[in-house]
Amino acid sequence: MKILMVCLGNICRSPLAEGIMKTKLPEGFFVDSVGTISMHEGEHPDKRAIKTAANHNIDISRQKSRPITKKDLETFDKIYCMDIDVYEDVVSKAENEEQRQKISLFLEPLGDHKNAEVPDPYWGDMKDFEDVFQLLDRGCDAIKNQILSQTK
Ligand code: 4NP
Repeated sequence: MKILMVCLGNICRSPLAEGIMKTKLPEGFFVDSVGTISMHEGEHPDKRAIKTAANHNIDISRQKSRPITKKDLETFDKIYCMDIDVYEDVVSKAENEEQRQKISLFLEPLGDHKNAEVPDPYWGDMKDFEDVFQLLDRGCDAIKNQILSQTK
């Protein structure tokens, strides 16, 4: 099972989601993250994201930003989008119904957040990054429970 986390720049939200999810899933799962824009391609995550993850003993410092490709929509089984703009952008790249079915909003498995978005901490401060970390942690738990119940 291959899981892809997607945000805009792939330097704040989706790198954190990737790092958190990797700590939660058993062997046999592959987790990666991408952005919908290529502006930060090749860059490591935002220093504040690296620090926030490190505060929770998660190392995301070696990740590198890359933009989503057509191949990702073929290769990955589940594609989780951090907000509605990202979701719509990724859906517009899908070439068939099978690919569209893989794409969802990251917070949807939390139930009461059907249309909820993970706020972008890029323009915020360390408190915003920690708040986003906590939200991503809850979202990853919900996704994990959903995936493990589906794959039993
Ligand atoms: P992310 O945050 O999508 O969570 O990685 C952002 C990073 C960079 C920009 C916007 C959001 N930017 O405009 O450069």
